[in-house]
Order: sequence, then C-alpha cells, then structure tokens
Amino acid sequence: MVDSFELSKFAGAVLAALLVIFVPKTFIDIAHQSHSEITGGYTLPAPAEGGGGATDGGGAAAPAVFDPAQVIAALPTANPDNGAGTFKKCLACHSAQKDAASKAGPNLWGVLGRPHASYPDFKGYSDAMKSKNVDWNYADLAHFLHKPREFMPGTKMIFAGVSDTGELADLIAYIRTLSDSPLPLPEATAPAAQPDAGAAPAPAPETPAPAPQ
Ligand code: HEC
Repeated sequence: MVDSFELSKFAGAVLAALLVIFVPKTFIDIAHQSHSEITGGYTLPAPAEGGGGATDGGGAAAPAVFDPAQVIAALPTANPDNGAGTFKKCLACHSAQKDAASKAGPNLWGVLGRPHASYPDFKGYSDAMKSKNVDWNYADLAHFLHKPREFMPGTKMIFAGVSDTGELADLIAYIRTLSDSPLPLPEATAPAAQPDAGAAPAPAPETPAPAPQ
C-alpha cells in the first residue's frame, strides 16, 4: 500500500507539471487576448449633431456680452464706403438726406449728436425713445444698432441688428458722415487734451448764476 507521503509527492509532481504547462499558456492566452480586444470594444454613441449645445457647457456658443468699446476702437480705421452698403438695409425705413421727409422711421441726417427722438417731422417715436433725454453718441448708437431691443426695450424699430463688430464700425463711420458737422471721432479728441498741444483756449469763466432770492 502506498503511504500518504508517497501519494503527496506524486500529487505534488503532477501539480508542478500542470503549473509548468498552464502558467505559460495562460500568459500566452492573455497576450493574445489583449490583441484581439482591440476589435472587441463597442462604439460610443456619437453626440447629437448641434443638439444639446445649451446643456453641455462647452462654452462655444455662450453669447458674449456686447462691448461698444470694441466698435468705438475700430472707428478710426473703419470704412464708411462699406458702411454705405450696410446702410441700404436702413433705407427701407429711413431717409438720410438733409431736410428729407421721414419714412417709417425718422430721418437720420445728423443723428449723431442730436437728442434721441428729436427729428421734427417724425411723430412715431416710442415712449422708450422719447424718455432718453441724451444726445446720440457712438456707444449708444453702436449698442442700439447691434441689438435695438436689448439697448432699448420697447423701441418701435423692428430690426434684428448688425452683429459683426467690423461691419458695425463701418456703418457708424458712414452714419457719422450724414451731417454738416460730423461728430469728432472718439479717439480724435484724445490728443487735444495733451499738454504739448500749444496754447489751449482759456476755459470759459464760470458764469455766476443769479441767486433765486
Ligand atoms: C423696419 C423699419 C426700420 C429699419 C429697417 C431700420 N429702422 Fe431705425 N428706426 C425705425 C423706427 C420706427 C424708429 C423709431 C424707434 C422708436 O421710436 O422707438 C427708428 C429709430 C432709429 C434711430 C433713432 C433716431 C432718433 O431720431 O432718435 C436710429 C439712429 C436708427 N433708427 C438707425 C437705423 C439704422 C442705422 C438702420 C439700419 C442698420 C435702421 N435704423 C433700420 C425703423 C427702422
């Protein structure tokens, strides 16, 4: 009878032999598997084209806050002739010759520098336009023409706006020419403030206001 010690030795030899055979085979299998897995994946669902843009937070479509300063900075190099092309869109509602009658919108001759809602023969101004008691300047005109209803909720001007900064600068450079005395360009006023500009005209003396009592 084989004693249990002999049996253990035999079993150990068999196990050792199996290890010698199967361990390398296992590694070979693993090596092969890792190659075959290259084709074994699944395809990720493609993101819907143009779909969830508002929810994915990608930032690409986030509307930039409009900054009139960019348009103003582009004015000195803007091209009024290009602006005349864009202004054709405005001619559907606006005349722009001196003393011409207003159309569906007020005549725009000399609009830069004149008060909002002040063209004499135009009766169709909105309350929103009439309540702005300031002169048209570059920044306000840029914002108004960029997005009329964002600048002035309640305006009666139905116009989508000019979104491109360069086109807007060209347009405003053209509108500036619709005047007997065009408003100085914003930058053009800066050098005059420098001390080396020669003898500056004396500042107007303060006029003493008559005392009410
Ligand atoms: C569909 C007609 C229409 C179009 C197109 C249009 N406007 Fe107007 N616009 C109006 C009306 C109406 C008003 C008066 C708005 C109000 O009182 O709220 C106005 C007002 C204005 C004012 C204010 C004038 C003032 O006397 O205070 C300016 C400046 C102006 N438009 C410029 C333009 C320019 C520049 C374009 C082209 C890029 C343009 N508009 C396109 C109808 C139009």
